[in-house]
Amino acid sequence: MHIHRLEKIWLVFGIAMLFIFLAVLGVGAFAMGLEPPGSHGMGAVDPQMVDKTAPFDHPGLRQIGENEYEAYMLAFAFGFSPDKMEVPAGAKIHFYITSKDVVHGFAIPGTNVNVMVVPGEVNHITHTFTQPGEYLVICNEYCGAAHEQMMTTIVVK
Ligand code: CUA
Repeated sequence: MHIHRLEKIWLVFGIAMLFIFLAVLGVGAFAMGLEPPGSHGMGAVDPQMVDKTAPFDHPGLRQIGENEYEAYMLAFAFGFSPDKMEVPAGAKIHFYITSKDVVHGFAIPGTNVNVMVVPGEVNHITHTFTQPGEYLVICNEYCGAAHEQMMTTIVVK
C-alpha cells in the first residue's frame, strides 16, 4: 500500500500530538496532583447533616474585616436560609452557599452573581453591592414543583 508523503507527515504529527496531550494530562494528574475544581475536601459537606453543621447551622452574615463579611447561605427546596439578609453597601461580601437537597441556583439579577448550588459542595462568590436597595435572589436551576417560588431578598443599606 502506498501512503503519500504528506499523509505520512500528518499521521506522525497526529500520533505525536496524542502522546503530548496524554503526557500533559498524566504529568498534571499524577506528578502535580491537579484535580478538577471542587473535588477537594475543603469545599465538601455532607448535605444530610449540613443544617446541623457549623457554620451552616446558623446561616447569615459574619463580619471578618473592617468592610468585609462572610455570608453563609443554605439553599433547599424551595427557599434560602436566611430568608432575608441585610448587608452594608460598599462592603465586600464573600458568599458561601450550599444545598441540602438537590441542585439549585443562586443568582442576583443585575449583578454578576450567578452560581450553581450543588449538594455536598460549598460554592463561593464574592460581590460588593455599591448601590443600596433590595436585591432579589433567585434560583435559576429547575429544582421541582415550586422552583419559581424559590427566592430570597438581600437588603443593602
Ligand atoms: Cu431551587 Cu429552582
